[in-house]
Amino acid sequence: MKLPNRRGAQKKHCSFVFDNALSIDVKLSRKRCFASLEDSDVFELQGKRAVVTGAASGIGLAIAEIFAAHQAQVFVVDLDQEKASEAAKSIAAKSGATATGLACDVSNATSVAAAFASIDGPIDILVNCAGIAHVGNLVSTTPEDMDRLYGVNVRGTYLCMQAAIGPMIEAKRGVILNMASIAATAGIADRFAYSMTKGAVLSMTLSVAKDYIAHGIRCNCISPARVHTPFVDGFVAKNYPGKEAEQMQVLAKAQPIGRMGTPAEIAVFALYLCSEEASFLTGVDYPIDGGFFNLR
Ligand SMILES: NC(=O)c1ccc[n+]([C@@H]2O[C@H](COP(=O)([O-])OP(=O)(O)OC[C@H]3O[C@@H](n4cnc5c(N)ncnc54)[C@H](O)[C@@H]3O)[C@@H](O)[C@H]2O)c1
Repeated sequence: MKLPNRRGAQKKHCSFVFDNALSIDVKLSRKRCFASLEDSDVFELQGKRAVVTGAASGIGLAIAEIFAAHQAQVFVVDLDQEKASEAAKSIAAKSGATATGLACDVSNATSVAAAFASIDGPIDILVNCAGIAHVGNLVSTTPEDMDRLYGVNVRGTYLCMQAAIGPMIEAKRGVILNMASIAATAGIADRFAYSMTKGAVLSMTLSVAKDYIAHGIRCNCISPARVHTPFVDGFVAKNYPGKEAEQMQVLAKAQPIGRMGTPAEIAVFALYLCSEEASFLTGVDYPIDGGFFNLR
């Protein structure tokens, strides 16, 4: 696997290969990704300490990988210690940067406190990517579904931001990036609980951006349309058994561009938003949506 590391030998491509059931291989030419940035320090994260939740899989993994490729020290936070450590090991091997796997259930205050306490030193960047999906409308969504979705997607984002903000305030700098969704602002069929959580992620993003702008802290969110990750494979398998291929087509066609996005496409934008180059950007929700909002 090659990563876009301007200092390394692998300078020709932005290439991502995810060694999971999905196996995505996206190759973007270096010319397309970083045209005219050849000799500058643009997007450099050297000396930055970045915590990425949900980083053992999908979008979070791609973000942790590209941050490490740009020399950030990365903390890979995920539910399972083995998965987090494996991802961290692979990220470190590919990038040469330091990566540490931390087991943490983001919905659990004690678990979040323990994980963040184990991080020695200030956090420069927090990316809240841990999230779970749910398919259901108002009638079919149970109170238990609501609580579960709220627990991970809303409470998890809140707890991790709260754990990171103190040291950021002290340092008078920091960047928080939350993973919302197009479901935060568009009506999507059968996503009642999920949309509720992503609307909350967007609202929390604006609130934090406003409250801490004077402390030198930026907070934004990204709202992807459908991105092909294990998250998508998981909920298609669970909710559309026997109709997986058909449903994947439906999901691809939901974007006017005719396909799902890739984790790499989200990660490149996350890198920009968390870099010094985006220092004028805060309090914004950025759709990455294959034309979903404007071209339907
Ligand atoms: N894939 C999409 O189409 C899409 C679209 C819009 C938004 N998103 C959002 O992007 C984020 C990442 O999605 P993905 O597609 O990469 O999913 P994914 O399932 O591939 O990865 C999510 C990761 O979060 C971890 N996780 C789940 N619950 C956790 C918990 N309680 N504590 C810690 N970690 C936990 C999982 O173990 C997993 O590694 C989610 O917040 C999702 O809502 C995804």
